[in-house]
Amino acid sequence: MSSSQLSKLTILVLFVLSCTCFTSTEAYDALDPTGNITIKWDIISWTPDGYVAVVTMYNFQQYRHIQSPGWSLGWTWAKKEVIWTMLGGQTTEQGDCSKFKGNIPHCCKKTPTVVDLLPGTPYNQQIANCCKGGVLSSWAQDPPNAVSSFQVSVGQAGTSNKTVRVPKNFTLKAPGPGYTCGPAKIVKPSRFFTTDKRRVTQALMTWNVTCTYSQFLAQKTPTCCVSLSSFYNNTIVPCPTCACGCQSNTSLSGGCPHIASVVPNPGKTPIAPLVQCTRHMCPIRVHWHVKINYKQYWRVKITITNFNYNMNYSQWNLVVQHPNFDNLTQIFSFNFKPLTPYGVINDTAMLWGVKFYNDLLMQAGPAGNVQSELLFQKDQATFTFEKGWAFPRRIYFNGDNCVMPPPDSYPWLPNASSRHLTSPLVLLMTFLSAMALLHEFV
Ligand SMILES: *[C@@H]1O[C@H](CO)[C@@H](O)[C@H](O)[C@H]1NC(C)=O
Ligand SMILES: *[C@@H]1O[C@H](CO)[C@@H](O)[C@H](O)[C@H]1NC(C)=O
Ligand SMILES: *[C@@H]1O[C@H](CO)[C@@H](O)[C@H](O)[C@H]1NC(C)=O
Ligand SMILES: *[C@@H]1O[C@H](CO)[C@@H](O)[C@H](O)[C@H]1NC(C)=O
Ligand SMILES: *[C@@H]1O[C@H](CO)[C@@H](O)[C@H](O)[C@H]1NC(C)=O
Ligand SMILES: *[C@@H]1O[C@H](CO)[C@@H](O)[C@H](O)[C@H]1NC(C)=O
Ligand SMILES: *[C@@H]1O[C@H](CO)[C@@H](O)[C@H](O)[C@H]1NC(C)=O
Ligand SMILES: *[C@@H]1O[C@H](CO)[C@@H](O)[C@H](O)[C@H]1NC(C)=O
Ligand SMILES: *[C@@H]1O[C@H](CO)[C@@H](O)[C@H](O)[C@H]1NC(C)=O
Ligand SMILES: *[C@@H]1O[C@H](CO)[C@@H](O)[C@H](O)[C@H]1NC(C)=O
Repeated sequence: MSSSQLSKLTILVLFVLSCTCFTSTEAYDALDPTGNITIKWDIISWTPDGYVAVVTMYNFQQYRHIQSPGWSLGWTWAKKEVIWTMLGGQTTEQGDCSKFKGNIPHCCKKTPTVVDLLPGTPYNQQIANCCKGGVLSSWAQDPPNAVSSFQVSVGQAGTSNKTVRVPKNFTLKAPGPGYTCGPAKIVKPSRFFTTDKRRVTQALMTWNVTCTYSQFLAQKTPTCCVSLSSFYNNTIVPCPTCACGCQSNTSLSGGCPHIASVVPNPGKTPIAPLVQCTRHMCPIRVHWHVKINYKQYWRVKITITNFNYNMNYSQWNLVVQHPNFDNLTQIFSFNFKPLTPYGVINDTAMLWGVKFYNDLLMQAGPAGNVQSELLFQKDQATFTFEKGWAFPRRIYFNGDNCVMPPPDSYPWLPNASSRHLTSPLVLLMTFLSAMALLHEFV
Protein backbone atom coordinates (compact mmCIF):
# COMPACT_ATOMS: atom_id res chain seq x y z
CA MET A 1 0.00 0.00 0.00
CA SER A 2 1.40 3.41 -0.93
CA SER A 3 1.80 6.15 1.63
CA SER A 4 -0.88 8.25 -0.04
CA GLN A 5 -3.28 5.34 0.26
CA LEU A 6 -2.33 4.96 3.87
CA SER A 7 -2.93 8.60 4.61
CA LYS A 8 -6.30 8.44 2.88
CA LEU A 9 -7.21 5.44 4.98
CA THR A 10 -6.13 7.29 8.08
CA ILE A 11 -8.35 10.18 7.16
CA LEU A 12 -11.20 7.79 6.54
CA VAL A 13 -10.72 6.07 9.89
CA LEU A 14 -10.51 9.38 11.71
CA PHE A 15 -13.60 10.49 9.88
CA VAL A 16 -15.51 7.38 10.93
CA LEU A 17 -14.30 7.72 14.50
CA SER A 18 -15.34 11.35 14.57
CA CYS A 19 -18.79 10.33 13.40
CA THR A 20 -19.23 7.73 16.10
CA CYS A 21 -18.21 10.14 18.84
CA PHE A 22 -21.20 12.26 17.99
CA THR A 23 -23.74 9.46 18.00
CA SER A 24 -24.80 10.27 21.52
CA THR A 25 -26.47 13.44 20.21
CA GLU A 26 -29.26 11.21 18.94
CA ALA A 27 -30.27 13.03 15.77
CA TYR A 28 -26.94 13.33 14.03
CA ASP A 29 -26.35 12.50 10.40
CA ALA A 30 -22.67 12.22 9.45
CA LEU A 31 -23.33 13.17 5.83
CA ASP A 32 -25.41 16.24 6.70
CA PRO A 33 -24.15 17.31 10.10
CA THR A 34 -25.96 20.66 10.20
CA GLY A 35 -29.16 19.35 8.58
CA ASN A 36 -32.21 20.75 10.33
CA ILE A 37 -35.61 22.29 9.80
CA THR A 38 -35.74 25.79 11.28
CA ILE A 39 -39.09 27.30 12.20
CA LYS A 40 -39.03 31.08 12.35
CA TRP A 41 -41.87 32.87 14.08
CA ASP A 42 -42.03 36.58 13.16
CA ILE A 43 -44.45 38.91 14.91
CA ILE A 44 -45.39 41.46 12.28
CA SER A 45 -47.99 43.49 14.20
CA TRP A 46 -49.54 43.83 17.64
CA THR A 47 -53.35 43.68 17.88
CA PRO A 48 -55.67 44.81 20.72
CA ASP A 49 -55.50 41.36 22.33
CA GLY A 50 -52.42 39.75 20.83
CA TYR A 51 -50.44 39.72 17.62
CA VAL A 52 -50.20 38.62 14.01
CA ALA A 53 -47.27 36.35 13.17
CA VAL A 54 -45.86 34.78 10.03
CA VAL A 55 -44.46 31.33 10.73
CA THR A 56 -41.93 30.06 8.19
CA MET A 57 -40.34 26.62 8.00
CA TYR A 58 -36.98 26.28 6.24
CA ASN A 59 -35.91 22.76 5.33
CA PHE A 60 -32.13 23.16 5.59
CA GLN A 61 -31.56 19.43 5.16
CA GLN A 62 -29.47 18.70 2.08
CA TYR A 63 -31.28 15.55 0.99
CA ARG A 64 -34.24 14.86 3.24
CA HIS A 65 -37.53 16.23 1.99
CA ILE A 66 -41.11 15.96 3.20
CA GLN A 67 -43.42 14.24 0.76
CA SER A 68 -47.17 14.19 0.45
CA PRO A 69 -49.27 14.04 2.68
CA GLY A 70 -46.92 16.64 4.12
CA TRP A 71 -45.85 18.17 7.41
CA SER A 72 -47.90 19.00 10.45
CA LEU A 73 -46.67 21.37 13.15
CA GLY A 74 -47.93 21.41 16.71
CA TRP A 75 -47.07 23.36 19.85
CA THR A 76 -48.39 24.09 23.35
CA TRP A 77 -49.49 27.65 24.14
CA ALA A 78 -47.83 29.16 27.19
CA LYS A 79 -50.95 31.03 28.38
CA LYS A 80 -54.59 30.97 27.24
CA GLU A 81 -53.92 31.98 23.65
CA VAL A 82 -56.39 31.29 20.85
CA ILE A 83 -56.01 31.57 17.09
CA TRP A 84 -58.51 34.06 15.68
CA THR A 85 -57.71 33.52 12.01
CA MET A 86 -55.15 31.88 9.76
CA LEU A 87 -53.88 32.32 6.21
CA GLY A 88 -51.98 29.71 4.21
CA GLY A 89 -52.62 26.99 6.78
CA GLN A 90 -55.26 25.63 9.13
CA THR A 91 -55.46 23.76 12.41
CA THR A 92 -56.68 20.20 12.22
CA GLU A 93 -59.11 20.73 15.13
CA GLN A 94 -60.99 23.77 16.34
CA GLY A 95 -61.28 22.62 19.94
CA ASP A 96 -63.73 23.95 22.51
CA CYS A 97 -64.61 27.57 21.71
CA SER A 98 -67.89 27.54 23.68
CA LYS A 99 -66.74 30.45 25.87
CA PHE A 100 -66.81 32.79 22.88
CA LYS A 101 -69.86 34.68 21.72
CA GLY A 102 -70.12 36.41 18.37
CA ASN A 103 -66.65 36.10 16.91
CA ILE A 104 -65.60 32.44 17.12
CA PRO A 105 -61.85 31.74 16.93
CA HIS A 106 -60.34 29.43 14.32
CA CYS A 107 -58.85 27.32 17.12
CA CYS A 108 -59.15 27.28 20.91
CA LYS A 109 -56.98 24.25 21.63
CA LYS A 110 -54.10 24.49 24.10
CA THR A 111 -52.08 22.30 21.70
CA PRO A 112 -53.01 23.28 18.14
CA THR A 113 -51.75 21.27 15.16
CA VAL A 114 -51.33 23.18 11.91
CA VAL A 115 -51.23 21.72 8.41
CA ASP A 116 -50.58 23.41 5.07
CA LEU A 117 -53.43 24.22 2.71
CA LEU A 118 -53.70 22.41 -0.61
CA PRO A 119 -52.66 23.81 -3.98
CA GLY A 120 -55.52 25.69 -5.59
CA THR A 121 -56.59 27.42 -2.36
CA PRO A 122 -58.39 30.73 -3.12
CA TYR A 123 -55.93 33.64 -3.26
CA ASN A 124 -57.53 35.47 -0.35
CA GLN A 125 -56.59 32.58 1.96
CA GLN A 126 -52.99 32.31 0.76
CA ILE A 127 -49.70 33.91 1.73
CA ALA A 128 -46.28 33.57 0.06
CA ASN A 129 -44.77 30.05 0.24
CA CYS A 130 -47.99 28.42 1.37
CA CYS A 131 -50.42 25.95 -0.01
CA LYS A 132 -48.21 23.14 -1.26
CA GLY A 133 -50.04 20.42 0.62
CA GLY A 134 -47.23 20.29 3.20
CA VAL A 135 -44.60 19.18 0.70
CA LEU A 136 -41.12 20.58 1.43
CA SER A 137 -38.22 20.03 -0.98
CA SER A 138 -34.71 19.43 0.26
CA TRP A 139 -32.23 22.31 0.34
CA ALA A 140 -29.84 20.81 -2.23
CA GLN A 141 -32.56 19.83 -4.66
CA ASP A 142 -34.89 22.82 -4.81
CA PRO A 143 -34.22 25.65 -2.30
CA PRO A 144 -37.16 27.90 -3.34
CA ASN A 145 -39.55 25.04 -2.54
CA ALA A 146 -37.78 24.10 0.69
CA VAL A 147 -39.68 26.90 2.46
CA SER A 148 -43.26 26.87 3.73
CA SER A 149 -45.23 29.61 5.54
CA PHE A 150 -48.51 30.37 7.21
CA GLN A 151 -49.89 33.35 9.10
CA VAL A 152 -51.67 33.28 12.47
CA SER A 153 -53.58 35.98 14.27
CA VAL A 154 -53.24 35.15 17.96
CA GLY A 155 -55.62 36.42 20.64
CA GLN A 156 -55.54 36.40 24.45
CA ALA A 157 -51.81 36.75 24.13
CA GLY A 158 -49.26 39.30 25.22
CA THR A 159 -49.40 42.55 23.25
CA SER A 160 -45.79 43.68 23.63
CA ASN A 161 -42.39 42.05 23.58
CA LYS A 162 -42.46 42.10 27.40
CA THR A 163 -45.75 40.25 27.88
CA VAL A 164 -45.82 37.85 24.96
CA ARG A 165 -44.85 34.25 25.80
CA VAL A 166 -43.23 31.89 23.33
CA PRO A 167 -45.12 28.63 22.76
CA LYS A 168 -43.54 25.45 24.08
CA ASN A 169 -43.10 21.90 22.99
CA PHE A 170 -42.99 22.23 19.22
CA THR A 171 -43.65 18.97 17.41
CA LEU A 172 -43.03 18.44 13.73
CA LYS A 173 -44.41 15.38 11.96
CA ALA A 174 -43.58 14.47 8.39
CA PRO A 175 -46.23 13.08 8.76
CA GLY A 176 -44.85 10.26 10.93
CA PRO A 177 -42.35 10.59 13.76
CA GLY A 178 -38.62 11.27 13.33
CA TYR A 179 -38.18 14.96 14.17
CA THR A 180 -37.26 16.37 17.56
CA CYS A 181 -37.61 20.11 18.10
CA GLY A 182 -35.66 22.21 20.54
CA PRO A 183 -37.07 25.10 22.57
CA ALA A 184 -38.06 28.38 20.89
CA LYS A 185 -35.29 30.97 21.23
CA ILE A 186 -35.83 34.69 20.91
CA VAL A 187 -33.44 35.96 18.23
CA LYS A 188 -32.63 39.18 16.43
CA PRO A 189 -35.78 40.34 14.61
CA SER A 190 -35.93 39.25 10.94
CA ARG A 191 -35.54 41.84 8.22
CA PHE A 192 -37.69 41.81 5.09
CA PHE A 193 -36.86 43.49 1.80
CA THR A 194 -39.57 44.95 -0.37
CA THR A 195 -39.71 43.40 -3.85
CA ASP A 196 -37.83 46.33 -5.38
CA LYS A 197 -35.21 45.95 -2.60
CA ARG A 198 -35.40 49.67 -1.86
CA ARG A 199 -36.86 49.38 1.62
CA VAL A 200 -36.28 47.06 4.58
CA THR A 201 -38.86 46.36 7.25
CA GLN A 202 -38.36 44.26 10.32
CA ALA A 203 -40.33 41.94 12.55
CA LEU A 204 -41.36 43.27 15.97
CA MET A 205 -40.08 40.12 17.58
CA THR A 206 -38.72 36.82 16.24
CA TRP A 207 -38.09 33.41 17.67
CA ASN A 208 -36.53 30.32 16.12
CA VAL A 209 -37.06 26.65 16.73
CA THR A 210 -34.69 24.03 15.33
CA CYS A 211 -35.88 20.50 14.58
CA THR A 212 -33.59 17.62 13.68
CA TYR A 213 -34.28 14.21 12.22
CA SER A 214 -33.30 10.78 13.41
CA GLN A 215 -33.95 7.68 11.34
CA PHE A 216 -33.91 5.71 14.55
CA LEU A 217 -36.85 7.69 15.95
CA ALA A 218 -38.67 7.53 12.64
CA GLN A 219 -38.81 3.80 12.17
CA LYS A 220 -36.76 0.88 13.26
CA THR A 221 -36.66 -1.05 10.00
CA PRO A 222 -34.83 0.08 6.86
CA THR A 223 -36.70 0.92 3.67
CA CYS A 224 -33.98 0.34 1.15
CA CYS A 225 -31.22 -2.11 0.25
CA VAL A 226 -28.29 -2.39 -2.14
CA SER A 227 -27.35 -5.14 -4.60
CA LEU A 228 -24.07 -5.36 -6.53
CA SER A 229 -22.63 -6.80 -9.72
CA SER A 230 -19.64 -6.32 -12.00
CA PHE A 231 -18.38 -7.13 -15.47
CA TYR A 232 -15.50 -9.14 -14.04
CA ASN A 233 -17.51 -11.66 -12.09
CA ASN A 234 -20.91 -13.01 -13.06
CA THR A 235 -22.13 -13.29 -9.47
CA ILE A 236 -24.91 -10.85 -8.68
CA VAL A 237 -24.76 -10.11 -4.98
CA PRO A 238 -28.38 -9.65 -3.91
CA CYS A 239 -29.77 -7.50 -1.14
CA PRO A 240 -29.43 -9.22 2.23
CA THR A 241 -32.33 -11.53 2.97
CA CYS A 242 -35.01 -9.86 5.10
CA ALA A 243 -33.08 -6.56 4.90
CA CYS A 244 -36.31 -4.63 5.50
CA GLY A 245 -38.20 -7.21 7.50
CA CYS A 246 -39.55 -10.63 6.63
CA GLN A 247 -42.66 -11.94 5.03
CA SER A 248 -45.20 -12.64 7.65
CA ASN A 249 -46.54 -16.16 7.40
CA THR A 250 -50.15 -15.20 7.87
CA SER A 251 -52.52 -14.10 5.13
CA LEU A 252 -50.10 -15.08 2.40
CA SER A 253 -52.22 -15.62 -0.67
CA GLY A 254 -49.93 -15.09 -3.62
CA GLY A 255 -49.04 -11.51 -2.74
CA CYS A 256 -47.44 -10.15 0.37
CA PRO A 257 -49.37 -8.74 3.29
CA HIS A 258 -48.88 -5.20 4.52
CA ILE A 259 -45.70 -4.97 6.47
CA ALA A 260 -46.48 -3.15 9.64
CA SER A 261 -42.82 -2.30 10.17
CA VAL A 262 -42.62 -0.18 7.03
CA VAL A 263 -45.63 1.90 7.96
CA PRO A 264 -44.30 4.75 10.10
CA ASN A 265 -47.61 5.64 11.70
CA PRO A 266 -50.22 2.99 10.98
CA GLY A 267 -53.78 4.21 10.75
CA LYS A 268 -52.78 7.86 10.85
CA THR A 269 -51.08 8.27 7.49
CA PRO A 270 -52.48 7.38 4.12
CA ILE A 271 -49.12 5.84 3.14
CA ALA A 272 -49.49 2.13 3.70
CA PRO A 273 -46.71 0.43 1.77
CA LEU A 274 -47.76 -2.70 0.00
CA VAL A 275 -44.48 -4.19 -1.00
CA GLN A 276 -43.90 -6.71 -3.71
CA CYS A 277 -42.80 -10.09 -2.36
CA THR A 278 -39.02 -10.36 -2.51
CA ARG A 279 -36.37 -12.00 -0.36
CA HIS A 280 -35.33 -8.60 0.97
CA MET A 281 -38.85 -7.14 1.33
CA CYS A 282 -37.56 -3.60 0.77
CA PRO A 283 -39.70 -0.97 -0.95
CA ILE A 284 -36.56 0.30 -2.72
CA ARG A 285 -33.55 -1.50 -4.14
CA VAL A 286 -30.47 0.28 -5.48
CA HIS A 287 -28.35 -1.78 -7.83
CA TRP A 288 -24.71 -0.78 -8.49
CA HIS A 289 -23.17 -2.44 -11.53
CA VAL A 290 -19.49 -1.94 -12.37
CA LYS A 291 -19.99 -1.90 -16.11
CA ILE A 292 -16.90 -1.06 -18.13
CA ASN A 293 -13.19 -0.60 -17.54
CA TYR A 294 -11.37 1.90 -19.77
CA LYS A 295 -7.74 2.87 -19.57
CA GLN A 296 -8.28 6.10 -17.66
CA TYR A 297 -11.93 5.83 -16.77
CA TRP A 298 -14.43 3.35 -15.48
CA ARG A 299 -18.18 3.26 -15.72
CA VAL A 300 -20.93 2.36 -13.26
CA LYS A 301 -24.62 1.81 -13.90
CA ILE A 302 -27.05 2.61 -11.09
CA THR A 303 -30.62 1.32 -11.15
CA ILE A 304 -33.19 2.24 -8.51
CA THR A 305 -36.18 -0.08 -8.42
CA ASN A 306 -39.45 0.59 -6.64
CA PHE A 307 -41.12 -2.48 -5.10
CA ASN A 308 -43.85 -0.46 -3.43
CA TYR A 309 -47.23 -0.76 -5.18
CA ASN A 310 -48.59 2.12 -3.13
CA MET A 311 -46.06 4.82 -3.70
CA ASN A 312 -44.80 7.06 -6.46
CA TYR A 313 -41.65 8.67 -5.10
CA SER A 314 -41.69 12.25 -6.34
CA GLN A 315 -38.43 14.20 -6.10
CA TRP A 316 -36.56 11.12 -4.93
CA ASN A 317 -32.87 11.45 -4.18
CA LEU A 318 -29.88 9.25 -3.58
CA VAL A 319 -26.78 9.98 -1.52
CA VAL A 320 -23.80 7.82 -2.42
CA GLN A 321 -20.40 7.60 -0.78
CA HIS A 322 -17.49 6.35 -2.89
CA PRO A 323 -13.88 7.61 -2.87
CA ASN A 324 -13.92 8.26 -6.63
CA PHE A 325 -16.63 10.92 -6.46
CA ASP A 326 -13.85 13.51 -6.33
CA ASN A 327 -13.32 12.69 -10.00
CA LEU A 328 -16.77 12.11 -11.44
CA THR A 329 -16.37 13.04 -15.10
CA GLN A 330 -19.85 12.54 -16.44
CA ILE A 331 -23.29 11.55 -15.24
CA PHE A 332 -26.16 10.65 -17.50
CA SER A 333 -29.80 11.54 -16.88
CA PHE A 334 -29.48 12.33 -13.14
CA ASN A 335 -28.61 15.60 -11.43
CA PHE A 336 -25.44 15.62 -9.36
CA LYS A 337 -24.17 17.71 -6.47
CA PRO A 338 -21.08 16.95 -4.39
CA LEU A 339 -21.72 16.97 -0.65
CA THR A 340 -18.68 18.00 1.31
CA PRO A 341 -19.73 18.15 4.94
CA TYR A 342 -16.09 17.99 6.05
CA GLY A 343 -14.55 20.23 3.39
CA VAL A 344 -11.52 18.17 2.51
CA ILE A 345 -13.24 14.83 1.98
CA ASN A 346 -15.03 14.91 -1.36
CA ASP A 347 -16.34 11.36 -1.53
CA THR A 348 -20.09 11.87 -1.23
CA ALA A 349 -22.55 12.81 -3.93
CA MET A 350 -26.20 13.57 -4.06
CA LEU A 351 -28.04 12.34 -7.16
CA TRP A 352 -31.61 13.08 -8.14
CA GLY A 353 -33.91 12.90 -11.14
CA VAL A 354 -34.18 15.37 -13.98
CA LYS A 355 -37.40 17.37 -13.76
CA PHE A 356 -40.20 16.02 -15.97
CA TYR A 357 -37.95 13.17 -17.13
CA ASN A 358 -37.18 10.83 -14.24
CA ASP A 359 -37.82 12.82 -11.07
CA LEU A 360 -40.83 10.59 -10.40
CA LEU A 361 -40.00 7.01 -9.43
CA MET A 362 -43.20 5.21 -10.32
CA GLN A 363 -44.92 2.59 -8.18
CA ALA A 364 -43.84 -1.08 -8.47
CA GLY A 365 -44.30 -2.41 -11.97
CA PRO A 366 -42.65 -2.19 -15.38
CA ALA A 367 -42.16 1.59 -15.08
CA GLY A 368 -41.03 1.47 -11.46
CA ASN A 369 -37.34 2.13 -11.97
CA VAL A 370 -34.87 4.88 -12.89
CA GLN A 371 -31.34 4.43 -14.20
CA SER A 372 -28.17 6.35 -14.74
CA GLU A 373 -24.55 5.79 -15.68
CA LEU A 374 -21.57 7.40 -14.01
CA LEU A 375 -18.17 7.86 -15.60
CA PHE A 376 -15.27 8.21 -13.18
CA GLN A 377 -11.71 9.21 -13.95
CA LYS A 378 -9.23 6.85 -12.34
CA ASP A 379 -6.75 8.15 -9.86
CA GLN A 380 -3.97 5.69 -10.67
CA ALA A 381 -2.70 5.76 -7.08
CA THR A 382 -5.92 4.50 -5.51
CA PHE A 383 -7.96 2.90 -8.26
CA THR A 384 -8.44 -0.87 -8.12
CA PHE A 385 -11.08 -3.47 -8.89
CA GLU A 386 -9.76 -5.58 -6.05
CA LYS A 387 -11.41 -6.12 -2.73
CA GLY A 388 -14.64 -4.43 -3.54
CA TRP A 389 -13.08 -0.98 -3.93
CA ALA A 390 -15.33 -0.24 -6.91
CA PHE A 391 -18.48 -0.60 -4.81
CA PRO A 392 -20.15 2.15 -2.81
CA ARG A 393 -19.40 2.57 0.88
CA ARG A 394 -22.81 3.88 1.83
CA ILE A 395 -26.08 4.72 0.06
CA TYR A 396 -29.12 6.66 1.27
CA PHE A 397 -32.44 6.77 -0.54
CA ASN A 398 -34.52 9.84 0.42
CA GLY A 399 -32.25 10.23 3.43
CA ASP A 400 -32.71 6.71 4.76
CA ASN A 401 -29.70 4.42 5.05
CA CYS A 402 -29.82 1.47 2.63
CA VAL A 403 -28.77 -1.97 3.86
CA MET A 404 -25.56 -3.13 2.13
CA PRO A 405 -24.60 -6.74 1.48
CA PRO A 406 -21.86 -8.01 3.83
CA PRO A 407 -18.42 -6.97 2.48
CA ASP A 408 -17.17 -10.56 2.25
CA SER A 409 -19.86 -11.34 -0.33
CA TYR A 410 -18.79 -8.64 -2.82
CA PRO A 411 -17.96 -9.88 -6.32
CA TRP A 412 -14.28 -10.78 -6.45
CA LEU A 413 -11.79 -10.36 -9.17
CA PRO A 414 -10.99 -13.85 -10.43
CA ASN A 415 -8.23 -15.43 -8.34
CA ALA A 416 -8.22 -12.85 -5.61
CA SER A 417 -9.85 -15.23 -3.20
CA SER A 418 -6.93 -16.39 -1.07
CA ARG A 419 -5.87 -12.91 0.07
CA HIS A 420 -9.39 -11.70 0.22
CA LEU A 421 -10.45 -11.93 3.84
CA THR A 422 -7.34 -10.58 5.47
CA SER A 423 -6.91 -7.52 3.26
CA PRO A 424 -6.80 -4.28 5.23
CA LEU A 425 -9.39 -2.70 2.98
CA VAL A 426 -11.89 -5.47 3.60
CA LEU A 427 -11.23 -5.23 7.31
CA LEU A 428 -11.72 -1.49 7.07
CA MET A 429 -14.96 -1.94 5.19
CA THR A 430 -16.22 -4.43 7.74
CA PHE A 431 -15.32 -1.89 10.39
CA LEU A 432 -17.13 0.83 8.45
CA SER A 433 -20.31 -1.15 8.10
CA ALA A 434 -20.15 -2.17 11.73
CA MET A 435 -19.81 1.50 12.63
CA ALA A 436 -22.70 2.37 10.35
CA LEU A 437 -24.78 -0.21 12.18
CA LEU A 438 -23.70 1.12 15.54
CA HIS A 439 -24.55 4.58 14.36
CA GLU A 440 -28.03 3.41 13.47
CA PHE A 441 -28.75 1.85 16.82
CA VAL A 442 -26.91 3.91 19.39
C1 LIG B 1 -29.56 24.70 10.79
O1 LIG B 1 -29.11 24.69 9.45
C2 LIG B 1 -28.53 25.91 9.04
C3 LIG B 1 -28.20 25.79 7.57
O2 LIG B 1 -27.42 24.68 7.31
C4 LIG B 1 -27.28 26.18 9.88
O3 LIG B 1 -26.71 27.43 9.49
C5 LIG B 1 -27.67 26.23 11.34
O4 LIG B 1 -26.52 26.36 12.11
C6 LIG B 1 -28.38 24.94 11.72
N1 LIG B 1 -28.84 25.07 13.08
C7 LIG B 1 -28.51 24.19 14.00
C8 LIG B 1 -29.02 24.44 15.37
O5 LIG B 1 -27.85 23.18 13.75
C1 LIG C 1 -38.59 45.07 23.39
O1 LIG C 1 -38.71 46.26 22.67
C2 LIG C 1 -37.90 47.31 23.17
C3 LIG C 1 -38.15 48.54 22.33
O2 LIG C 1 -39.50 48.67 22.06
C4 LIG C 1 -36.45 46.90 23.13
O3 LIG C 1 -35.67 47.91 23.69
C5 LIG C 1 -36.26 45.60 23.89
O4 LIG C 1 -34.93 45.16 23.74
C6 LIG C 1 -37.20 44.55 23.37
N1 LIG C 1 -37.06 43.35 24.16
C7 LIG C 1 -37.01 42.15 23.64
C8 LIG C 1 -36.91 41.01 24.59
O5 LIG C 1 -37.03 41.96 22.43
C1 LIG D 1 -45.12 17.96 24.95
O1 LIG D 1 -45.93 17.21 24.06
C2 LIG D 1 -45.99 15.84 24.34
C3 LIG D 1 -46.81 15.17 23.27
O2 LIG D 1 -47.67 16.05 22.66
C4 LIG D 1 -46.56 15.64 25.73
O3 LIG D 1 -46.54 14.27 26.04
C5 LIG D 1 -45.72 16.39 26.75
O4 LIG D 1 -46.29 16.28 28.02
C6 LIG D 1 -45.63 17.84 26.37
N1 LIG D 1 -44.75 18.54 27.30
C7 LIG D 1 -45.04 19.75 27.77
C8 LIG D 1 -44.00 20.34 28.68
O5 LIG D 1 -46.06 20.33 27.51
C1 LIG E 1 -33.36 32.08 12.79
O1 LIG E 1 -33.80 31.44 11.59
C2 LIG E 1 -33.59 32.22 10.42
C3 LIG E 1 -34.14 31.44 9.28
O2 LIG E 1 -33.55 30.23 9.17
C4 LIG E 1 -32.11 32.51 10.24
O3 LIG E 1 -31.92 33.36 9.13
C5 LIG E 1 -31.57 33.17 11.49
O4 LIG E 1 -30.18 33.32 11.35
C6 LIG E 1 -31.88 32.33 12.70
N1 LIG E 1 -31.38 32.97 13.87
C7 LIG E 1 -30.60 32.35 14.74
C8 LIG E 1 -30.07 33.16 15.87
O5 LIG E 1 -30.31 31.16 14.63
C1 LIG F 1 -44.72 -20.58 7.96
O1 LIG F 1 -45.65 -21.44 7.38
C2 LIG F 1 -45.13 -22.73 7.07
C3 LIG F 1 -46.19 -23.55 6.35
O2 LIG F 1 -47.41 -22.89 6.35
C4 LIG F 1 -44.70 -23.40 8.40
O3 LIG F 1 -44.15 -24.67 8.13
C5 LIG F 1 -43.66 -22.51 9.08
O4 LIG F 1 -43.31 -23.05 10.33
C6 LIG F 1 -44.21 -21.13 9.29
N1 LIG F 1 -43.14 -20.28 9.81
C7 LIG F 1 -43.33 -19.41 10.80
C8 LIG F 1 -42.15 -18.58 11.19
O5 LIG F 1 -44.41 -19.29 11.35
C1 LIG G 1 -48.58 6.89 -9.59
O1 LIG G 1 -48.66 7.68 -10.75
C2 LIG G 1 -49.43 7.08 -11.80
C3 LIG G 1 -49.34 7.99 -13.01
O2 LIG G 1 -49.42 9.33 -12.66
C4 LIG G 1 -50.87 6.92 -11.31
O3 LIG G 1 -51.64 6.29 -12.32
C5 LIG G 1 -50.88 6.05 -10.07
O4 LIG G 1 -52.18 5.94 -9.54
C6 LIG G 1 -49.95 6.65 -9.01
N1 LIG G 1 -49.86 5.71 -7.90
C7 LIG G 1 -50.00 6.06 -6.63
C8 LIG G 1 -49.86 4.99 -5.62
O5 LIG G 1 -50.23 7.22 -6.31
C1 LIG H 1 -15.77 17.50 -5.55
O1 LIG H 1 -15.78 16.73 -6.75
C2 LIG H 1 -16.67 17.22 -7.74
C3 LIG H 1 -16.69 16.25 -8.88
O2 LIG H 1 -15.44 15.98 -9.37
C4 LIG H 1 -16.25 18.62 -8.15
O3 LIG H 1 -17.15 19.13 -9.11
C5 LIG H 1 -16.26 19.52 -6.92
O4 LIG H 1 -15.78 20.79 -7.26
C6 LIG H 1 -15.38 18.93 -5.82
N1 LIG H 1 -15.57 19.74 -4.62
C7 LIG H 1 -14.57 20.04 -3.80
C8 LIG H 1 -14.92 20.87 -2.62
O5 LIG H 1 -13.44 19.65 -3.98
C1 LIG I 1 -8.67 13.47 -10.81
O1 LIG I 1 -7.75 12.55 -11.34
C2 LIG I 1 -6.62 13.15 -11.93
C3 LIG I 1 -5.81 12.07 -12.56
O2 LIG I 1 -5.51 11.08 -11.62
C4 LIG I 1 -5.84 13.90 -10.86
O3 LIG I 1 -4.75 14.54 -11.44
C5 LIG I 1 -6.75 14.93 -10.25
O4 LIG I 1 -6.10 15.58 -9.17
C6 LIG I 1 -7.99 14.28 -9.74
N1 LIG I 1 -8.89 15.30 -9.28
C7 LIG I 1 -9.31 15.34 -8.05
C8 LIG I 1 -10.27 16.44 -7.72
O5 LIG I 1 -8.94 14.52 -7.22
C1 LIG J 1 -17.19 -13.96 -7.89
O1 LIG J 1 -17.41 -13.43 -6.58
C2 LIG J 1 -17.91 -14.37 -5.67
C3 LIG J 1 -18.13 -13.66 -4.35
O2 LIG J 1 -19.27 -12.86 -4.44
C4 LIG J 1 -16.94 -15.52 -5.49
O3 LIG J 1 -17.51 -16.48 -4.64
C5 LIG J 1 -16.64 -16.14 -6.86
O4 LIG J 1 -15.63 -17.10 -6.72
C6 LIG J 1 -16.17 -15.08 -7.84
N1 LIG J 1 -16.02 -15.66 -9.15
C7 LIG J 1 -14.87 -15.71 -9.77
C8 LIG J 1 -14.85 -16.28 -11.14
O5 LIG J 1 -13.86 -15.26 -9.23
C1 LIG K 1 -6.94 -18.51 -11.60
O1 LIG K 1 -8.15 -18.81 -12.27
C2 LIG K 1 -8.01 -19.72 -13.33
C3 LIG K 1 -9.34 -19.83 -14.03
O2 LIG K 1 -10.41 -19.57 -13.13
C4 LIG K 1 -7.53 -21.06 -12.79
O3 LIG K 1 -7.35 -21.96 -13.86
C5 LIG K 1 -6.24 -20.85 -12.05
O4 LIG K 1 -5.81 -22.09 -11.46
C6 LIG K 1 -6.38 -19.80 -10.98
N1 LIG K 1 -5.09 -19.53 -10.36
C7 LIG K 1 -4.94 -19.43 -9.04
C8 LIG K 1 -3.57 -19.09 -8.57
O5 LIG K 1 -5.87 -19.59 -8.27
